[in-house]
Amino acid sequence: MSFTNVTVITHPVIQTKLTEIRDFAADHRKFRALLDEIASLMVYEVTRDFPTKTRVVQTPLEKTTGAVLARRVTLVPILRAGLGMANGVLRLLPEARLGHLGVYRDEQTLEPVSYYQKLPPDVSDTEVLLIDPMLATGGSAIAASSFLKKAGVASIRFVCLVAAPEGIQAFHGQHPEVPIYCASIDRQLNEKGYILPGLGDAGDRIFGT
Ligand code: PRP
Ligand code: URA
Repeated sequence: MSFTNVTVITHPVIQTKLTEIRDFAADHRKFRALLDEIASLMVYEVTRDFPTKTRVVQTPLEKTTGAVLARRVTLVPILRAGLGMANGVLRLLPEARLGHLGVYRDEQTLEPVSYYQKLPPDVSDTEVLLIDPMLATGGSAIAASSFLKKAGVASIRFVCLVAAPEGIQAFHGQHPEVPIYCASIDRQLNEKGYILPGLGDAGDRIFGT
């Protein structure tokens, strides 16, 4: 199955770590460490076409021109599980600001429930990386992206670890221009809305709940 505006990052180092993180024997300490590492590695691909501008720099020998990112970056983890990716992304983008969107999905209806929103005041002038390890039905990512758009954000990239085909379709049904970056498109959702083969409940595995 192929989707437009979806980038699957197939780098072997990421795929090796993805395989390890799927393993149900990985305890929360190992799970957290792997998620953090994968998030860092994904940043290279996700930001590959970020615009840059020229910056003059004085080396010990002479002046030369280099590059800096043209736009500021805001990282927006979807709570809770998105927090597990935040430090990994920040390691490579230490200047980024951080917003937080609290969304959980109701276990019965699978509908997203938004419970917290805090964004930097100038978020609309920045490149936003919306992060959450899982794109299942798509409800949480759709709600978070809609909130960001209402706040005036024009440039969003959604970064996850594992995406379900159903979630990609639903997400791009609402937000077709928002690119999705993931490490895998898995087979399907089960009857409880979990991704198969997936990695289980990401929040529970990160936080040991
Ligand atoms: C998980 C995950 C996503 C959501 C994906 O969060 O981190 O936010 O489910 O499912 P969806 O695509 O069907 O909306 P969860 O609701 O378990 O909350 P948590 O992060 O607080 O554990
Ligand atoms: N949320 C998760 O954490 N895992 C899934 O498989 C689906 C939704």
